[in-house]
Parts: sequence; structure tokens; C-alpha cells
Amino acid sequence: MKIPQHIAIIMDGNGRWAKKRGFQRQSGHARGAYVADNVAHMCSDHGIKYLTLYAFSTENWKRPQTEINFLFNLTLSYLKSRLPEMKKEGVRFRFLGRINDLPPKLREFCDFIETETFDCEKLTVIIALNYGGRAEIVDAVNKIIEKNDGRVDEKSFKDFLYLPDVPYPDLIIRTSGEERLSNFLIWQGAYSELYFADKLWPDFTHEDFELALKSFDKRQRKYGAVI
Ligand code: FPP
Repeated sequence: MKIPQHIAIIMDGNGRWAKKRGFQRQSGHARGAYVADNVAHMCSDHGIKYLTLYAFSTENWKRPQTEINFLFNLTLSYLKSRLPEMKKEGVRFRFLGRINDLPPKLREFCDFIETETFDCEKLTVIIALNYGGRAEIVDAVNKIIEKNDGRVDEKSFKDFLYLPDVPYPDLIIRTSGEERLSNFLIWQGAYSELYFADKLWPDFTHEDFELALKSFDKRQRKYGAVI
């Protein structure tokens, strides 16, 4: 089976999952973090090298402050609790987004865990935090202007993105039945295969992951050429 090198996921549907059960939205996110961890293991088992998870978008600041705080605390406690085992399993953590605008405690732990896992090579888990595709492009353009070193082309533009060394995602998965990118990896995803799962993220299982991989296996990637 053809295996993607990089999978990126829009983990959508946490709130609906909780509402359906009469729970607070927060419990959907908590269950979502557990599912994200399981999916990281599935990626590792399949030899997938990069997994990017959309945990908090530049637009998510519009949510109630209590939910924002909960999401940041959840991310922090998830990272803290998983660090020793993930490190042993060869998982490198990286972060994507306007990290400097995050609360200091979270930002500092992101820096710490990036340094701690720098040498890990089995799987890179990239957590998109305060990430927006348009913000990333605008930030890149401003870096180019500040550098004042002439024009760029598509290849050199990539050097100004947040993580220029990371290959573009081969497969972008979105759960919950919604079918749009919502400002996620809009430069990098130009030729990604898209897979929309009709499952809420907290219900996303190993079987659902395998179905996404099977679907990817059947896609013929032509990049605009004739094959
Ligand atoms: C979208 O569902 C989900 C989010 C905005 C947050 C995703 C965060 C996590 C799964 C937890 C942290 C993750 C890691 C990897 C530590 P929604 O709230 O928009 O759901 P809804 O559309 O049903 O309301």
C-alpha cells in the first residue's frame, strides 16, 4: 500500500460530540486529545514520518475565554504527560503558528519540548497552535520585505514559511462531515489529497484511519501533468 509521508488532520466535531451526550464542550476536546494520541501511534506504526494536528486556529480566539483557556491547558497537560513516553518512542514535537502570541507557560513548554525531542526521528508530530494559513502567508511576505533581498519564486517562498523543512502534506483529513480547509495549510495543501470522514473527531477510530489510508492508496497524484 502507498503510504503518505505526511498526514495533516483537522480534528473537527468535538463540540458536537459533547453536545450529543449532554456534556460540556470541554469533554469533547479532552476526548479529542486522547484520539489524537492514538492517531499518533497509528502513524508511527505505519511508518508515516509527519503528523500535523490543527489544535487551535487564529480564528479560535473568537471562542469563549473559558474554552480557550481549557484548550491551552489541555494541550499543555497533554504535552507534559506524554513527553517521556513519546521521547522513548522517537517522537519529535514541533509547533506551527504564531507561537509567540500564546500564553507564556504554554509558549515556554513548546520551546522546551521542541528542544527535548529535537533528536527524535521516528515520527514528527506538529501541533498547529494559533495557526492560520493566511497569517502564515502574510508573515512570510513580511519576512521577505524585511529581508529586502529581491524577488522570490514558489521554491524560495517556502523558505519563509513557519516550518520550511517539513514536506507538504500528502493527505489532509477532516472529520465531522464538514468539507473545507478552514485556513489550514493553504499554501502547503495545494496538491494534497483531501479525505473527509463522516465521523466526529472523538469517535474517529483505528478503522476510520485505515479507511483514509486505503482511500489515499487509490488516488492518482498527477500534479497537473498527464500520466
Ligand atoms: C474542533 O472541534 C476542534 C478544536 C478547535 C480543538 C482541537 C483540539 C483538541 C482535539 C485537543 C488538543 C489537541 C492536542 C493534540 C493536544 P469543534 O470544537 O469546532 O467542534 P464542533 O464543530 O462540533 O463545535
